[in-house]
Amino acid sequence: MRIMILGGGGREHAVAHAFSKSKIDTELHCCPGNPGIAKLAKCHIGDPCNPSEMLTLCKSNGIELVFVGPEAPLVAGTADALREAGLLVMGPSMSGARLEGSKAFSKQFMDKHGIPTSSFDLCTDIDSCRKALKKRTAPFVVKADGLAAGKGAFLLDTFEEAINICTMMLDDFLLGTAGRVVVIEDFVAGQETTVLALTDGKTIRVLPSSQDHKRALDGDKGDNTGGMGAYSPVPWVDDTFMKKVTEEVLQPTLDGLHEDGIPFCGVIYAGIMVKPNGSLSLLEYNVRLGDPEAQVVLPVFDGDFAEVILACTKGTLDSIQWPSPKQHALGVVMSSGGYPNQYQTGIEITCTEENSSDSYVYHAGTKLNDNGTLVTSGGRVLTVVGIAETLQKARDIAYKRIESISFDKSYYRRDIGDKSLKGDK
Ligand code: GLY
Repeated sequence: MRIMILGGGGREHAVAHAFSKSKIDTELHCCPGNPGIAKLAKCHIGDPCNPSEMLTLCKSNGIELVFVGPEAPLVAGTADALREAGLLVMGPSMSGARLEGSKAFSKQFMDKHGIPTSSFDLCTDIDSCRKALKKRTAPFVVKADGLAAGKGAFLLDTFEEAINICTMMLDDFLLGTAGRVVVIEDFVAGQETTVLALTDGKTIRVLPSSQDHKRALDGDKGDNTGGMGAYSPVPWVDDTFMKKVTEEVLQPTLDGLHEDGIPFCGVIYAGIMVKPNGSLSLLEYNVRLGDPEAQVVLPVFDGDFAEVILACTKGTLDSIQWPSPKQHALGVVMSSGGYPNQYQTGIEITCTEENSSDSYVYHAGTKLNDNGTLVTSGGRVLTVVGIAETLQKARDIAYKRIESISFDKSYYRRDIGDKSLKGDK
Protein backbone atom coordinates (compact mmCIF):
# COMPACT_ATOMS: atom_id res chain seq x y z
CA MET A 1 0.00 0.00 0.00
CA ARG A 2 1.41 3.37 -1.01
CA ILE A 3 0.91 5.84 1.80
CA MET A 4 1.56 9.60 1.77
CA ILE A 5 2.11 11.42 5.06
CA LEU A 6 1.67 15.19 4.88
CA GLY A 7 3.83 17.24 7.25
CA GLY A 8 7.44 17.31 8.37
CA GLY A 9 7.68 17.45 12.15
CA GLY A 10 8.29 15.08 15.04
CA ARG A 11 4.66 13.96 14.92
CA GLU A 12 4.97 12.96 11.27
CA HIS A 13 8.24 11.14 12.00
CA ALA A 14 6.43 9.13 14.70
CA VAL A 15 3.54 8.47 12.27
CA ALA A 16 5.99 7.21 9.61
CA HIS A 17 7.64 5.00 12.23
CA ALA A 18 4.26 3.58 13.32
CA PHE A 19 3.29 2.84 9.69
CA SER A 20 6.68 1.21 9.08
CA LYS A 21 6.01 -1.36 11.84
CA SER A 22 2.78 -2.60 10.22
CA LYS A 23 2.40 -6.13 8.94
CA ILE A 24 0.78 -4.58 5.86
CA ASP A 25 3.39 -4.15 3.13
CA THR A 26 3.68 -0.37 2.85
CA GLU A 27 5.63 2.03 0.67
CA LEU A 28 5.88 5.31 2.56
CA HIS A 29 6.03 8.79 1.07
CA CYS A 30 6.07 12.11 2.88
CA CYS A 31 5.71 15.77 1.94
CA PRO A 32 7.80 17.64 2.89
CA GLY A 33 9.27 15.29 5.54
CA ASN A 34 12.65 15.81 7.21
CA PRO A 35 16.02 14.00 7.40
CA GLY A 36 14.73 11.57 10.05
CA ILE A 37 11.60 10.70 8.05
CA ALA A 38 13.76 10.30 4.92
CA LYS A 39 15.16 7.09 6.46
CA LEU A 40 11.65 5.57 6.41
CA ALA A 41 9.88 7.30 3.52
CA LYS A 42 10.53 8.95 0.18
CA CYS A 43 10.33 12.69 0.89
CA HIS A 44 8.88 15.10 -1.68
CA ILE A 45 9.16 18.87 -1.92
CA GLY A 46 5.77 20.59 -1.82
CA ASP A 47 3.24 22.54 0.18
CA PRO A 48 0.65 20.39 2.02
CA CYS A 49 -1.61 23.46 2.22
CA ASN A 50 -1.93 23.53 -1.57
CA PRO A 51 -4.71 21.02 -2.36
CA SER A 52 -4.19 20.82 -6.13
CA GLU A 53 -0.42 20.43 -5.76
CA MET A 54 -0.96 17.59 -3.26
CA LEU A 55 -3.46 15.89 -5.56
CA THR A 56 -0.96 15.95 -8.44
CA LEU A 57 1.82 14.65 -6.16
CA CYS A 58 -0.33 11.80 -4.84
CA LYS A 59 -1.62 10.81 -8.28
CA SER A 60 1.84 10.82 -9.84
CA ASN A 61 3.13 8.53 -7.09
CA GLY A 62 0.21 6.10 -7.15
CA ILE A 63 -0.76 6.95 -3.56
CA GLU A 64 -3.74 5.06 -2.12
CA LEU A 65 -3.93 6.40 1.43
CA VAL A 66 -3.04 9.85 2.79
CA PHE A 67 -2.43 10.68 6.46
CA VAL A 68 -2.63 14.44 7.07
CA GLY A 69 -0.39 15.34 10.03
CA PRO A 70 -0.83 19.05 10.86
CA GLU A 71 -3.98 21.16 11.11
CA ALA A 72 -3.17 23.81 8.49
CA PRO A 73 -3.66 21.54 5.42
CA LEU A 74 -6.97 20.35 6.90
CA VAL A 75 -8.18 23.91 7.39
CA ALA A 76 -6.99 24.70 3.83
CA GLY A 77 -9.14 21.89 2.36
CA THR A 78 -6.41 19.47 1.27
CA ALA A 79 -8.27 16.45 2.70
CA ASP A 80 -11.45 17.43 0.81
CA ALA A 81 -9.63 17.66 -2.54
CA LEU A 82 -7.87 14.32 -2.09
CA ARG A 83 -11.02 12.54 -0.92
CA GLU A 84 -13.10 13.94 -3.77
CA ALA A 85 -10.50 12.49 -6.16
CA GLY A 86 -11.10 9.02 -4.69
CA LEU A 87 -8.13 8.67 -2.32
CA LEU A 88 -8.48 7.22 1.17
CA VAL A 89 -7.76 10.13 3.53
CA MET A 90 -7.19 10.23 7.30
CA GLY A 91 -8.08 13.80 8.21
CA PRO A 92 -11.36 15.71 8.36
CA SER A 93 -12.98 17.94 5.80
CA MET A 94 -12.57 21.72 6.01
CA SER A 95 -15.93 21.87 7.78
CA GLY A 96 -14.77 19.38 10.45
CA ALA A 97 -11.41 21.15 10.81
CA ARG A 98 -13.27 24.20 12.13
CA LEU A 99 -13.30 22.39 15.49
CA GLU A 100 -9.64 23.46 15.66
CA GLY A 101 -9.51 26.26 13.08
CA SER A 102 -12.06 28.44 14.88
CA LYS A 103 -12.19 28.61 18.69
CA ALA A 104 -15.48 30.53 18.43
CA PHE A 105 -17.00 27.72 16.37
CA SER A 106 -15.69 25.02 18.70
CA LYS A 107 -16.97 26.72 21.88
CA GLN A 108 -20.40 27.21 20.27
CA PHE A 109 -20.35 23.56 19.14
CA MET A 110 -19.54 22.36 22.70
CA ASP A 111 -22.29 24.56 24.10
CA LYS A 112 -24.88 23.41 21.57
CA HIS A 113 -24.15 19.71 22.08
CA GLY A 114 -23.89 19.69 25.88
CA ILE A 115 -20.15 18.96 26.00
CA PRO A 116 -18.72 20.21 29.32
CA THR A 117 -16.64 23.37 28.87
CA SER A 118 -16.11 26.70 30.64
CA SER A 119 -18.50 29.59 29.98
CA PHE A 120 -17.32 32.06 27.35
CA ASP A 121 -17.97 35.28 25.45
CA LEU A 122 -17.10 36.03 21.83
CA CYS A 123 -15.91 39.61 21.34
CA THR A 124 -15.22 41.66 18.24
CA ASP A 125 -14.62 45.06 19.90
CA ILE A 126 -12.89 46.37 23.00
CA ASP A 127 -16.12 47.36 24.79
CA SER A 128 -17.42 43.82 24.66
CA CYS A 129 -13.99 42.53 25.82
CA ARG A 130 -14.14 44.91 28.79
CA LYS A 131 -17.64 43.67 29.71
CA ALA A 132 -16.60 40.02 29.35
CA LEU A 133 -13.49 40.51 31.50
CA LYS A 134 -15.43 42.42 34.19
CA LYS A 135 -17.74 39.41 34.62
CA ARG A 136 -14.69 37.32 35.57
CA THR A 137 -11.82 37.29 38.06
CA ALA A 138 -8.11 36.70 37.50
CA PRO A 139 -6.45 34.77 36.00
CA PHE A 140 -8.06 35.81 32.71
CA VAL A 141 -8.18 33.48 29.71
CA VAL A 142 -8.06 35.27 26.36
CA LYS A 143 -7.81 33.40 23.04
CA ALA A 144 -7.65 34.32 19.37
CA ASP A 145 -10.39 32.67 17.33
CA GLY A 146 -8.18 31.46 14.46
CA LEU A 147 -5.02 29.39 14.06
CA ALA A 148 -2.02 31.22 15.52
CA ALA A 149 0.74 28.58 15.54
CA GLY A 150 0.41 28.04 19.29
CA LYS A 151 0.67 31.77 20.05
CA GLY A 152 -3.06 32.55 20.33
CA ALA A 153 -3.89 31.60 23.95
CA PHE A 154 -3.11 33.90 26.88
CA LEU A 155 -3.41 33.45 30.63
CA LEU A 156 -3.19 36.86 32.30
CA ASP A 157 -2.91 37.88 35.93
CA THR A 158 -4.48 41.33 35.74
CA PHE A 159 -7.42 43.05 34.03
CA GLU A 160 -4.99 45.59 32.48
CA GLU A 161 -2.83 42.89 30.90
CA ALA A 162 -5.93 41.15 29.56
CA ILE A 163 -7.44 44.26 28.01
CA ASN A 164 -4.03 45.11 26.55
CA ILE A 165 -3.85 41.73 24.73
CA CYS A 166 -7.43 42.22 23.48
CA THR A 167 -6.47 45.66 22.12
CA MET A 168 -3.37 44.25 20.46
CA MET A 169 -5.46 41.60 18.72
CA LEU A 170 -8.52 43.64 17.78
CA ASP A 171 -6.99 47.06 17.05
CA ASP A 172 -3.32 46.39 16.29
CA PHE A 173 -3.90 43.09 14.41
CA LEU A 174 -1.24 41.30 16.50
CA LEU A 175 -2.29 37.93 15.06
CA GLY A 176 -3.77 39.13 11.78
CA THR A 177 -7.14 37.65 10.86
CA ALA A 178 -6.77 34.95 13.57
CA GLY A 179 -7.39 37.65 16.19
CA ARG A 180 -10.41 39.34 14.58
CA VAL A 181 -12.66 37.54 17.06
CA VAL A 182 -11.49 37.16 20.66
CA VAL A 183 -12.74 34.39 22.94
CA ILE A 184 -12.81 35.24 26.65
CA GLU A 185 -13.57 32.31 28.92
CA ASP A 186 -13.62 31.29 32.57
CA PHE A 187 -10.34 29.95 33.94
CA VAL A 188 -10.57 26.29 34.94
CA ALA A 189 -8.15 24.92 37.52
CA GLY A 190 -7.23 21.24 37.64
CA GLN A 191 -5.14 18.59 36.02
CA GLU A 192 -4.76 18.54 32.26
CA THR A 193 -4.51 15.49 30.05
CA THR A 194 -4.67 14.84 26.33
CA VAL A 195 -7.02 12.21 24.99
CA LEU A 196 -6.45 11.34 21.34
CA ALA A 197 -9.18 9.42 19.58
CA LEU A 198 -9.52 7.97 16.10
CA THR A 199 -12.82 7.99 14.26
CA ASP A 200 -14.17 6.79 10.95
CA GLY A 201 -17.20 9.05 11.47
CA LYS A 202 -19.32 6.26 13.04
CA THR A 203 -17.12 4.66 15.70
CA ILE A 204 -14.68 6.46 17.98
CA ARG A 205 -11.85 4.77 19.87
CA VAL A 206 -9.19 6.18 22.17
CA LEU A 207 -5.42 5.90 21.87
CA PRO A 208 -3.22 5.66 25.00
CA SER A 209 -3.47 8.74 27.25
CA SER A 210 -0.69 11.30 27.38
CA GLN A 211 0.38 14.49 29.08
CA ASP A 212 2.22 17.36 27.44
CA HIS A 213 4.50 19.95 29.12
CA LYS A 214 3.66 23.21 27.40
CA ARG A 215 5.80 25.73 29.30
CA ALA A 216 9.39 26.37 28.23
CA LEU A 217 11.08 26.06 31.64
CA ASP A 218 11.26 23.50 34.44
CA GLY A 219 8.50 23.67 37.03
CA ASP A 220 5.98 24.74 34.34
CA LYS A 221 7.47 28.23 34.23
CA GLY A 222 8.24 30.47 31.27
CA ASP A 223 6.50 31.02 27.95
CA ASN A 224 3.99 28.70 26.36
CA THR A 225 5.47 26.51 23.64
CA GLY A 226 4.18 23.87 21.23
CA GLY A 227 5.23 21.31 23.85
CA MET A 228 8.58 20.53 25.51
CA GLY A 229 8.00 16.88 26.37
CA ALA A 230 5.32 14.31 27.05
CA TYR A 231 4.75 10.85 28.41
CA SER A 232 2.27 8.06 27.87
CA PRO A 233 0.24 6.53 29.35
CA VAL A 234 -0.68 8.85 32.25
CA PRO A 235 -0.58 6.78 35.48
CA TRP A 236 -3.81 8.22 36.93
CA VAL A 237 -5.81 7.74 33.72
CA ASP A 238 -7.54 4.38 33.86
CA ASP A 239 -10.26 2.64 31.81
CA THR A 240 -12.99 4.22 33.98
CA PHE A 241 -11.66 7.70 33.23
CA MET A 242 -11.42 6.95 29.50
CA LYS A 243 -15.03 5.66 29.58
CA LYS A 244 -16.13 8.94 31.21
CA VAL A 245 -14.27 10.98 28.56
CA THR A 246 -15.85 8.87 25.82
CA GLU A 247 -19.36 9.22 27.25
CA GLU A 248 -19.19 12.91 28.16
CA VAL A 249 -16.95 14.33 25.44
CA LEU A 250 -16.04 12.07 22.51
CA GLN A 251 -19.35 10.36 21.72
CA PRO A 252 -21.34 13.63 22.10
CA THR A 253 -18.79 15.23 19.73
CA LEU A 254 -19.36 12.53 17.12
CA ASP A 255 -23.14 12.74 17.60
CA GLY A 256 -22.97 16.55 17.33
CA LEU A 257 -21.00 16.33 14.09
CA HIS A 258 -23.68 13.98 12.67
CA GLU A 259 -26.48 16.25 13.82
CA ASP A 260 -24.78 19.24 12.16
CA GLY A 261 -24.13 17.31 8.93
CA ILE A 262 -20.32 17.48 9.26
CA PRO A 263 -18.49 14.37 8.00
CA PHE A 264 -15.41 13.54 10.05
CA CYS A 265 -12.79 10.85 9.46
CA GLY A 266 -9.64 11.56 11.39
CA VAL A 267 -8.24 12.32 14.82
CA ILE A 268 -10.08 14.11 17.58
CA TYR A 269 -7.68 15.57 20.15
CA ALA A 270 -9.51 16.48 23.33
CA GLY A 271 -7.56 18.72 25.73
CA ILE A 272 -9.29 17.81 29.00
CA MET A 273 -9.11 19.56 32.35
CA VAL A 274 -10.07 17.39 35.31
CA LYS A 275 -11.38 19.70 38.02
CA PRO A 276 -10.56 19.06 41.70
CA ASN A 277 -14.09 17.60 42.16
CA GLY A 278 -13.41 15.10 39.34
CA SER A 279 -15.69 16.69 36.76
CA LEU A 280 -14.40 17.29 33.23
CA SER A 281 -14.06 20.48 31.24
CA LEU A 282 -13.06 20.39 27.59
CA LEU A 283 -10.39 23.05 27.02
CA GLU A 284 -10.02 22.62 23.29
CA TYR A 285 -10.33 20.37 20.30
CA ASN A 286 -7.61 19.72 17.80
CA VAL A 287 -8.24 17.70 14.68
CA ARG A 288 -4.87 15.95 14.48
CA LEU A 289 -2.43 14.11 16.71
CA GLY A 290 -0.62 16.25 19.27
CA ASP A 291 3.06 17.08 18.94
CA PRO A 292 4.96 15.88 21.02
CA GLU A 293 2.12 13.62 22.24
CA ALA A 294 2.25 11.47 19.07
CA GLN A 295 5.93 10.78 19.69
CA VAL A 296 5.07 8.98 22.97
CA VAL A 297 1.57 7.65 22.23
CA LEU A 298 2.40 5.85 18.97
CA PRO A 299 5.42 3.91 20.33
CA VAL A 300 3.22 2.38 23.08
CA PHE A 301 0.16 1.86 20.84
CA ASP A 302 -0.35 -1.90 20.64
CA GLY A 303 -2.47 -2.05 17.48
CA ASP A 304 -1.34 -2.27 13.85
CA PHE A 305 -1.32 1.43 12.93
CA ALA A 306 -1.68 0.98 9.15
CA GLU A 307 -4.53 -1.49 9.63
CA VAL A 308 -6.30 0.88 12.02
CA ILE A 309 -5.89 3.97 9.82
CA LEU A 310 -7.04 2.00 6.78
CA ALA A 311 -10.13 0.91 8.74
CA CYS A 312 -10.85 4.55 9.66
CA THR A 313 -10.71 5.63 6.03
CA LYS A 314 -12.92 2.72 4.93
CA GLY A 315 -15.53 3.19 7.68
CA THR A 316 -14.78 -0.16 9.36
CA LEU A 317 -13.22 0.95 12.65
CA ASP A 318 -15.94 -0.98 14.54
CA SER A 319 -14.21 -4.22 13.46
CA ILE A 320 -10.91 -3.36 15.18
CA GLN A 321 -9.93 -3.26 18.85
CA TRP A 322 -6.55 -2.76 20.48
CA PRO A 323 -5.32 -3.55 23.98
CA SER A 324 -4.28 -1.02 26.62
CA PRO A 325 -0.57 -0.21 26.38
CA LYS A 326 1.89 -2.47 28.20
CA GLN A 327 4.90 -0.17 27.79
CA HIS A 328 5.58 3.41 28.88
CA ALA A 329 7.16 6.13 26.76
CA LEU A 330 8.63 9.46 27.79
CA GLY A 331 9.83 12.05 25.28
CA VAL A 332 12.00 15.11 25.85
CA VAL A 333 12.08 17.87 23.25
CA MET A 334 15.54 19.25 22.49
CA SER A 335 15.02 22.81 21.32
CA SER A 336 17.14 25.63 19.94
CA GLY A 337 18.26 28.02 22.72
CA GLY A 338 15.81 30.95 22.84
CA TYR A 339 12.76 29.00 21.59
CA PRO A 340 9.82 29.89 21.63
CA ASN A 341 11.23 33.35 20.97
CA GLN A 342 14.27 34.17 18.82
CA TYR A 343 16.77 31.43 18.10
CA GLN A 344 19.55 30.64 15.64
CA THR A 345 19.35 27.93 12.98
CA GLY A 346 21.95 26.13 10.85
CA ILE A 347 23.80 24.76 13.90
CA GLU A 348 25.45 21.37 13.40
CA ILE A 349 23.87 18.49 15.31
CA THR A 350 25.96 15.61 16.62
CA CYS A 351 23.81 12.53 17.02
CA THR A 352 25.16 9.01 16.89
CA GLU A 353 23.01 5.96 16.08
CA GLU A 354 19.46 7.21 16.37
CA ASN A 355 17.13 4.35 17.14
CA SER A 356 17.24 1.20 19.20
CA SER A 357 14.53 -1.04 20.61
CA ASP A 358 14.18 1.18 23.69
CA SER A 359 14.81 4.69 22.35
CA TYR A 360 13.91 6.79 19.35
CA VAL A 361 15.04 10.18 18.14
CA TYR A 362 12.27 11.87 16.18
CA HIS A 363 13.31 14.78 13.97
CA ALA A 364 11.43 18.08 13.66
CA GLY A 365 13.54 21.23 13.15
CA THR A 366 16.41 19.54 11.31
CA LYS A 367 17.73 19.63 7.77
CA LEU A 368 20.78 18.57 5.78
CA ASN A 369 22.85 21.56 4.67
CA ASP A 370 24.60 21.83 1.30
CA ASN A 371 27.45 19.66 2.60
CA GLY A 372 25.04 16.95 3.76
CA THR A 373 25.60 17.83 7.45
CA LEU A 374 22.64 17.58 9.82
CA VAL A 375 21.84 21.07 11.17
CA THR A 376 19.07 22.76 13.13
CA SER A 377 16.29 24.44 11.14
CA GLY A 378 13.61 25.19 13.73
CA GLY A 379 12.73 25.80 17.37
CA ARG A 380 11.82 22.30 18.39
CA VAL A 381 14.64 20.24 16.91
CA LEU A 382 14.33 16.63 18.13
CA THR A 383 12.14 14.59 20.45
CA VAL A 384 14.18 11.98 22.28
CA VAL A 385 11.97 9.12 23.50
CA GLY A 386 12.66 6.32 25.96
CA ILE A 387 10.45 3.21 26.02
CA ALA A 388 10.33 0.78 28.94
CA GLU A 389 8.09 -1.27 31.19
CA THR A 390 7.87 1.57 33.73
CA LEU A 391 7.65 5.35 33.40
CA GLN A 392 10.75 5.76 35.58
CA LYS A 393 12.83 3.52 33.30
CA ALA A 394 11.48 5.26 30.18
CA ARG A 395 12.53 8.59 31.72
CA ASP A 396 16.01 7.31 32.56
CA ILE A 397 16.51 5.97 29.02
CA ALA A 398 15.34 9.23 27.39
CA TYR A 399 17.61 11.44 29.54
CA LYS A 400 20.58 9.09 29.06
CA ARG A 401 20.02 9.06 25.28
CA ILE A 402 19.89 12.87 25.21
CA GLU A 403 23.42 13.02 26.63
CA SER A 404 24.74 11.48 23.41
CA ILE A 405 23.20 14.25 21.27
CA SER A 406 24.52 17.77 21.11
CA PHE A 407 24.28 21.05 19.29
CA ASP A 408 25.39 24.49 20.33
CA LYS A 409 22.86 26.33 22.55
CA SER A 410 20.56 23.30 22.78
CA TYR A 411 17.98 23.45 25.56
CA TYR A 412 15.65 20.90 27.11
CA ARG A 413 13.57 20.61 30.25
CA ARG A 414 14.98 18.35 32.97
CA ASP A 415 11.67 17.58 34.66
CA ILE A 416 9.52 15.81 32.08
CA GLY A 417 7.26 13.32 33.86
CA ASP A 418 8.56 14.23 37.32
CA LYS A 419 5.18 15.25 38.76
CA SER A 420 3.63 11.94 37.80
CA LEU A 421 6.63 10.00 39.08
CA LYS A 422 6.24 11.72 42.46
CA GLY A 423 2.64 10.55 42.49
CA ASP A 424 1.20 14.05 41.99
CA LYS A 425 -1.72 14.40 39.65
N1 GLY B 1 1.19 19.61 22.12
C1 GLY B 1 0.06 20.39 21.87
C2 GLY B 1 -0.50 20.29 20.53
O1 GLY B 1 -0.11 19.47 19.73
O2 GLY B 1 -1.41 21.06 20.24
